[in-house]
Amino acid sequence: MKRSLIDILDFSVEEIEQLIKVALDISKNPKKYANKCKGKKLATLFFEPSTRTRLSFEAAMYELGGHVLGFSDAKNSSVSKGESVSDTVKVVSCYADIIAMRHPLEGAPLVAAQKASIPIINAGDGGHCHPTQTLADLFTIYKEKGRLNNLTVGFCGDLKYGRTVHSLIVALARYTGIKIVLISPDELKLPFYVKRELELNKISYIETDNLENALGELDVLYMTRVQGERFADQAEYERLKDCYILNEEKMKHAKNDTIILHPLPRVNEISVALDDDDRACYFKQVLNAKHIRMALILKLLAEKDVEVLDYISRCEISKLDDKKCSNPKCITNTEQELGQSFKLVDKEYDIHRCVYCEKKIK
Ligand code: CP
Repeated sequence: MKRSLIDILDFSVEEIEQLIKVALDISKNPKKYANKCKGKKLATLFFEPSTRTRLSFEAAMYELGGHVLGFSDAKNSSVSKGESVSDTVKVVSCYADIIAMRHPLEGAPLVAAQKASIPIINAGDGGHCHPTQTLADLFTIYKEKGRLNNLTVGFCGDLKYGRTVHSLIVALARYTGIKIVLISPDELKLPFYVKRELELNKISYIETDNLENALGELDVLYMTRVQGERFADQAEYERLKDCYILNEEKMKHAKNDTIILHPLPRVNEISVALDDDDRACYFKQVLNAKHIRMALILKLLAEKDVEVLDYISRCEISKLDDKKCSNPKCITNTEQELGQSFKLVDKEYDIHRCVYCEKKIK
């Protein structure tokens, strides 16, 4: 399998530090990088809507002197005729040097990485994870706070379906002196498997539904949109969609140097009036994302001949003959002959998860 970025944990803390260093240099000396990808092609395979991720990958490749091909709507690809993810990426491997893929099915980029002969970048898979947004978030925190250790980080809103939240929490769990404050209604609490990651890394966290009370402690406030597209029950979405609206009044409870992040798109959860507040960093995040995606493309193309162990071989796989992943959004439901694979993630509680979507197996 080629070196790819499927999950933020595919990269060590040191590798992320190095990416941040390169992204900083790119932001200061863009001309130095203008021809680094001359003759190279990035394919953007977006089976789900996107503004920032797709366009920033495309801008990143153009600014590196490379070319871009791809589609932004599954209806315009042969997937609409029933083509599998495996076949699609085998075909695109003949046209491009690297692929950025967004897919509504969880685990689709992992299947792509197993089948493609070129590196795959997970640009978001269902409600599962979004590692390149995490790189942008870490880079922004580093630029604004000067460190990734010793921070109190609050996550507010849809912590259940927000894939950027899951990836960033898992990433932060590897740093020291991190405290996490989880702010959500009961219905949108962080999944147990992400909380367990905090516990295993001995990261202290609290859960609350009160944003105002939590604000005064935070160095970073990560706001999120309630993800309407992931709800099975639209009435429940309507009830919860405006559960938190950050505005100037609420920000009076925050410190002068608390930074506000949001992966965007924003709906109602941050008042537009806050955009001029010096603490609002969500549009800086967008520019930072382009620079760190440039650094990522350079890294993966430089390592294109490095073969890594297949992801499944890296996990402690369990044989659970009678079991099937119950997640209707898991790629194992649609990809022919993929089969089921389960990994043992927690020996203490004997917890197994689907390798592809990480749904707990009951
Ligand atoms: N942050 C983010 O993933 O935005 P898009 O959905 O517009 O790509």
